[in-house]
Amino acid sequence: MVPSLVSRIDEMVNGWCVKRSHNIADLRRWARRRVPAPMFHYMDGAADDEVTLAHNHGDFDRYELLPRYLVDVSHIDTRTTVMGAPIDFPVVLAPTGMSRLFNNEGELAVAAAAADAGTVYSLSTVSTRSIEQVAEVCAGPKWFQIYVFRDRALVSEFIDRCRAARYHALCLTVDVPVPGNRERDLYTGMSIPPQLTLASWLDFLLHPLWGLKYLTSDPFQLANVAHKAPVGDDELITLVGYLAKQFDPSVDWDAAAWMIEQWQGPFAIKGICCVEDAVRAAEIGATAVILSNHGGRQLDQAASPISLLAEVKQAVGDRVEVILDGGVRRGTDVLKALALGAQACMIGRPYLFGLGAGGRAGVDRALALLRAEVERDMALLGVTRVDQITGDYVRER
Ligand code: GLV
Repeated sequence: MVPSLVSRIDEMVNGWCVKRSHNIADLRRWARRRVPAPMFHYMDGAADDEVTLAHNHGDFDRYELLPRYLVDVSHIDTRTTVMGAPIDFPVVLAPTGMSRLFNNEGELAVAAAAADAGTVYSLSTVSTRSIEQVAEVCAGPKWFQIYVFRDRALVSEFIDRCRAARYHALCLTVDVPVPGNRERDLYTGMSIPPQLTLASWLDFLLHPLWGLKYLTSDPFQLANVAHKAPVGDDELITLVGYLAKQFDPSVDWDAAAWMIEQWQGPFAIKGICCVEDAVRAAEIGATAVILSNHGGRQLDQAASPISLLAEVKQAVGDRVEVILDGGVRRGTDVLKALALGAQACMIGRPYLFGLGAGGRAGVDRALALLRAEVERDMALLGVTRVDQITGDYVRER
């Protein structure tokens, strides 16, 4: 009775917020209102002074588009492929941790939305639904984001499970040798273990719908490693603590090559942030490099992906696909990235803003908005197919 009333009210509010969102920035504003502050700032925030976060998006303005007119654009085809998988438009969903923090529908809603939109969903290792649960709701191409953990048996287990659940690719994140310094989380208490402040607790009271949905559904888990708890009876190790201890600062290129060897399939290295590492990734046999600075959440002052793109593409040529992750908020951002050599773009916060603003409906809205923008902007640029978007259509300001 209570759960069904809660979900009916939630659905109505979701619809209301989504209908009033005409771009990704609108979805962010609704997410800010609907998600308790500790969770919102965990999603929205970045490292140190958040300079890289700002540059990730702002640096798109360093480039301008060069449209051609009097071209027949009555049929626009936004389809392309990424690591061999066909997708309906050149935007794929990045792995993001613990999606149920932002809306209880979490990873299942996002994965189903991605499949319905005809694109890739990447599941994070640190997810609140498991590899298998996501595979059940997501018929489209799926990637699993993985780390080289200290416990290599756990890594091999993930690889076997991904194979059994028919994941298309692995995506190795390399930019977390140590955690980034996310100061918004220190103010709200979103640390490991959480140390929520009084203000954070009070904020939950201001978001009763979020809290009720949380309380009336199944318990929150780090689903991929749930079977690792509890660990012994004399030592209380939480799963979050367990995972935090798995990060290995000594991981190197040999470990990445080992993982490529284990998987024997499409393999992306995510977190590449300079030309040399992109070349090295190509040399060890990666299928794609994902230019990324983890949404500005790791090394502040790291270069923005869009500013690196042309140089990286020139160095790697066609040896690996280049995917741009970071700062994409508009269809024109996608076109600039494609013109500078990207095969596709990845989005993280844009779909999480949608999730926070309106659950599944919000994710659908985020994807539909970006797709409509890409399509309209292609017509305005004077191209009808993705492969026509070349360096001739962009220049530095
Ligand atoms: C996880 O990867 C995060 O950035 O919080």
